[in-house]
Amino acid sequence: PATAVPFQVAELSLAEAGRHQIRLAENEMPGLMALREEYGASKPLTGARIAGSLHMTVQTAVLIETLVALGAQVRWASCNIFSTQDEAAAAVAVGPTGTVEQPAGVPVFAWKGETLEQYWWATSQIFDWSAEAAAAGAEWTGPNLILDDGGDATLLVHTGREYELAGAVPATPAGASHEWSIVLDTLRASLAADPQRWTRIAADIQGVTEETTTGVHRLYELHREGRLLFPAINVNDSVTKSKFDNKYGIRHSLPDGLNRATDMLMGGKVAFVCGYGDVGKGSAEALRGQGARVIVSEIDPINALQAAMDGYQVARLDSVIDQVDFVITTTGNKDVVTLDHILGLKHQAVVANVGHFDNEIDMAGLESLPGAERVEIKPQVHEWRLPNGRSVLVLSEGRLMNLGNATGHPSFVMSNSFTNQVLAQLELWVNRAAYEDRVYVLPKILDEKVARLHLAALGVELTELTPEQASYIGVPVEGPYKVDHYRY
Ligand code: NAI
Repeated sequence: PATAVPFQVAELSLAEAGRHQIRLAENEMPGLMALREEYGASKPLTGARIAGSLHMTVQTAVLIETLVALGAQVRWASCNIFSTQDEAAAAVAVGPTGTVEQPAGVPVFAWKGETLEQYWWATSQIFDWSAEAAAAGAEWTGPNLILDDGGDATLLVHTGREYELAGAVPATPAGASHEWSIVLDTLRASLAADPQRWTRIAADIQGVTEETTTGVHRLYELHREGRLLFPAINVNDSVTKSKFDNKYGIRHSLPDGLNRATDMLMGGKVAFVCGYGDVGKGSAEALRGQGARVIVSEIDPINALQAAMDGYQVARLDSVIDQVDFVITTTGNKDVVTLDHILGLKHQAVVANVGHFDNEIDMAGLESLPGAERVEIKPQVHEWRLPNGRSVLVLSEGRLMNLGNATGHPSFVMSNSFTNQVLAQLELWVNRAAYEDRVYVLPKILDEKVARLHLAALGVELTELTPEQASYIGVPVEGPYKVDHYRY
């Protein structure tokens, strides 16, 4: 729509159901609740205007309301077309004190099952702060911080500004993906309406905090190319993020997604996991836990050796394709499952991706395969009947299936990730002067703080160093306990 809307969710009446889930999640997110306790009175994020692009789930609702409790203003979109939990989005829009008739929450633009056009429209909405500016009688029109997951919000600002400087958006290249053509159309429309929009927004932004491996890759690339416009904190590489969410989170949400989508027994079957990084490790462990025989592929000899020592067969997908019942991509790379692989799979094998983007599986090739037929079993579960007489089951159209077919990682693990997010937002807001236009990770002492905040809930009894022990191993009694390059 051309006219401004205050928010856009599927169904506001789901707010009560969402609020119940948020209430239960709060009890499972001790890190975020501790930050509310610590900073709720001083409100150090006062003045911060955060544009958030991250899966609009129940856990994200607790993150959003924590940012608000610390004084921030927030606008939000999901970072995936299938990952929104509509009841969580409704509850956030209504807010803890609002009603369905009089919503008083955060402007959220997210619903499950967006089209790609709607997705990029929603992402644009988190940058339009004209309503807030009018209410405050302020000059600014955009946010001053980004909280990103996968880098789409960051991409919009950087690309939009570059095209504004060039004075034009280039013609859509032949062979561009459908999604990229939508991004270019979005920027073309914005350039026509306001040729300085992204330039102004970029100038106001103090920094971005990035949630995931793929988004972090994009940030380092921007920096390498000399294009990064503001400081970035890589939240993913906090130990309490990637070594927990990516691994233990997926260990929970991958089988959850497989069960909800197919209800197919994993025990005794052959599951193939592409990639043995953090997400791959959690995936393989979950599948083995269900009794599947797990085969792993890797391009990195270190990870391949790790997988072998963890007891998995390590093979190329081509070599074993005719044995595979489930193939799961976790690489963050493209073209990992090709059309030939799909054609080589057993009848009714399951094809699923948990890496950030949908290009790990050649969906475009499948969609244009002559004679292939797509049958919807239910939303986000499709049987593809192949010309060879077999069929495969593709989950979430090749997008993150743990969020598309299930509800993503559980609250407790996301509390670790999101406590890092809030600390990173605080850093960029309160200590802006300390940061250059580079990519940072949080200091280890804050990483340890995040872990510390989650110990009591699990009944963990931590051993304390004596001063003599501390000086013997050369660390302060109160931490940090490890050198920066320690690998955990
Ligand atoms: P990582 O870098 O630790 O692991 C990826 C692994 O894939 C690496 O070991 C790499 O050597 C391997 N790899 C790359 N190309 C390959 C190929 N062609 N064949 C086999 N292996 C290959 O990254 P991490 O943290 O495990 O993340 C992986 C992806 O999952 C990223 O896109 C990330 O953004 C996403 N992610 C998804 C989550 C979810 O909830 N579904 C949660 C966290 C991350």
